[in-house]
Amino acid sequence: MEIIRRKQLKEKPVFDNSLGFGHYFTDYMFTMKYTAGEGWHDAKIEPNEPKPFDLATCVFHYAQGIFEGMKAFRQPDGSIAIFRPEENWARMNRSATRMCIPNFPEDVVEEGLEELLKLDRDWIPTAPGTALYIRPTIVATRIMLGVHASTEYLFFIILSPVGSYYAHGLEPTRLVVEDTYTRATIGGTGEAKCLGNYAASMKAGEEAEEKGFDQVLWLDANEKKYVEEVGSMNIFFVIGGEVVTPALVGSILPGITRKSCIQVLKDKGIPVSERRISIDEVIAAQKEGTLNEAFGTGTAAVISPVGLIRYKDVDYTINGGEMGPITKMLYDTITGIQYGTAPDPYNWKKIVK
Ligand code: COI
Repeated sequence: MEIIRRKQLKEKPVFDNSLGFGHYFTDYMFTMKYTAGEGWHDAKIEPNEPKPFDLATCVFHYAQGIFEGMKAFRQPDGSIAIFRPEENWARMNRSATRMCIPNFPEDVVEEGLEELLKLDRDWIPTAPGTALYIRPTIVATRIMLGVHASTEYLFFIILSPVGSYYAHGLEPTRLVVEDTYTRATIGGTGEAKCLGNYAASMKAGEEAEEKGFDQVLWLDANEKKYVEEVGSMNIFFVIGGEVVTPALVGSILPGITRKSCIQVLKDKGIPVSERRISIDEVIAAQKEGTLNEAFGTGTAAVISPVGLIRYKDVDYTINGGEMGPITKMLYDTITGIQYGTAPDPYNWKKIVK
């Protein structure tokens, strides 16, 4: 793979939790082009510098684009690990299909990512809770204003050293149930990781933040009855002895951390079900004292305890606003595998040599 080197490396920020999320970017990026007729080509690593784009470029107008979120972790022996990358590539190609973007060769982007990580290895932070966030993205680059799928695309991977996704770190999050706006409908793009899903969620997110919440808990668009997800994470509830997460009905992002947690729970013999769960069931359980824990899962959010849910102007505190034992077990298991402080019985980690 072609590598174009920088003349001078960038200055690095302080690598602790003050990094926040997505503010700093590394020296290099991976890029690959697509043109109809030629297919995906010209995969290379180049300096991460601003690129000029014609303002008629498709993606600026109709948001034909998709992305992924992954992380690289520094291991105790200094090597670099990534978590289940093949799951991200497979999901990204499913998102591509939904958005009329041509499927890409997964082995080429995996090789590109590994080369990129090796070049930018000094950007992987080591402080607890930090990691190198990986953002693979595809955008439609044809210069055209007709509402049609583009015939040209740019695939890129940029890297960002990050701390916690939430400004308050591992403190339990505060969610407000959204019963005005909707995120996704069956048959829409909710299960694809496409740009527009996130733009469409911002109004509700902003209003929630103004009221002092971290994010919204989305309900299904049809009946505003069933819990779906949080937008940057999937949601789980511990009710009585059962862990419940909404089934992937078509409007929910199929999270890789979600899938990993379900596997861990099953293997530990903890009952876990993927099923429809109404907000009324969650609130009833809280009132009866059986809603023991709630947590969100995601690459950026990791495993985030939920301390409070507001629904119809009433606040419901969960587990006294503290992280519960199942949340803690999952956090320790998943981050233990990722950071190499615990065994990886599933072989989920890929070491970049
Ligand atoms: C991730 O967890 O990687 C995400 O993509 C969620 C969000 C930061 C958009």
